Amino acid sequence: MYSTDVSEGAGWGPEVPILAIETTCDETGAAVLMGPRAGATGVPWVLSNVVASQFELHSRFGGVVPEIAARAHLTQILPIIDQALADAGISLGQLKAVAVAVRPGLVGSLVVGLSAAKALALALQIPLIAFDHLEGHLYACQLAYPERTVYPCVGLVVSGGHTHLYHCKGPLEAEFLGGTIDDAAGEAFDKVASMLALGFPGGPAVERTASLGNPKAYAFPRAFIHEDRLAFSFSGLKTAVLYTLKGKPGQLAAVAAGPQQISDIAASFQQAVVDVLVRKCHQALRQTGLRRLSIGGGVAANGAFRSALLTMAERSKVEVFIPPMHFCTDNAALGAVAFEKLRRGIDSPLDIDVEAGLRRSPA
Ligand code: KG4
Ligand code: ZN
Repeated sequence: MYSTDVSEGAGWGPEVPILAIETTCDETGAAVLMGPRAGATGVPWVLSNVVASQFELHSRFGGVVPEIAARAHLTQILPIIDQALADAGISLGQLKAVAVAVRPGLVGSLVVGLSAAKALALALQIPLIAFDHLEGHLYACQLAYPERTVYPCVGLVVSGGHTHLYHCKGPLEAEFLGGTIDDAAGEAFDKVASMLALGFPGGPAVERTASLGNPKAYAFPRAFIHEDRLAFSFSGLKTAVLYTLKGKPGQLAAVAAGPQQISDIAASFQQAVVDVLVRKCHQALRQTGLRRLSIGGGVAANGAFRSALLTMAERSKVEVFIPPMHFCTDNAALGAVAFEKLRRGIDSPLDIDVEAGLRRSPA
């Protein structure tokens, strides 16, 4: 562990700049964030936030290819860090810590970000602060609404890799309430987009197509919707879309879908996902007795989901926090959660490793 005293920086007020790095999946991100030094309080803000998306590299495969993702992070990480520093007008020597997402994610991708962060921490003799990507997604709500009280809350992370509900007692105290037993919601969007030949990433493409369709045209399944269990399943829904398009095995193939039918399928699929997500959030709020709901992850960029959440929140008299689009998808500003560690004087050893899997309770 490093003993660099970040409570006594020369020339800074109660806030200090840190560099945050994000390479959990297929976005290479670096951000310079300004926030409370050790012992101080306050919500950080973003000086710069640079994201290099790899979607063009993965689009012809219809999903993220881990080996390609790791190699792309390697070529992009240093220019992205340079760009984030230049945009912020901050030099390497001014940084007071380097934060990096170390879990969950693709191992090869995580390792690139962590190695860069370790090298900088060692060379600059500043603390390394490892953070949890999912805690970062939920903290984006606090970043987006600095003047509001966000915690304690129910947190839903809904992305390409996750559909998980948490009881967030604080920014670093997320207790797992339940999650998907098969696909993540974003993954279902991506797979259905591929079935409908809409391209990758699927979420925005399905949303655009759905805007032209009838969400009631097909009665797709909504798993566990009538159960109290806080669990999700999207594989049956995906299969239902496939059977609608291709016919059930052993039966005649469905008639080739025209543009209106494609739009109706997209709209009905999206509605089924939205209904389940909103219903489970509502149940989690009821079961925990909490009155605040925070949403994070790429699927939170979906307009139909956002408006259904706002309607539920108004009816149920709860507060809902949804970050602006650019904080929903993967980006390094999620590393703002690292200030919660910095201000408590918590840093990470230089031999820390990445973790592919999900933690179900606070570290
Ligand atoms: O959080 P994120 O950027 O990366 C992961 O951690 O997975 O989320 C990416 C996921 C993808 O599956 C993408 O299709 C989905 O979020 N997504 C959307 C929308 N925008 C992105 N899903 C539905 N509607 C959208 N507008
Ligand atoms: Zn994510």
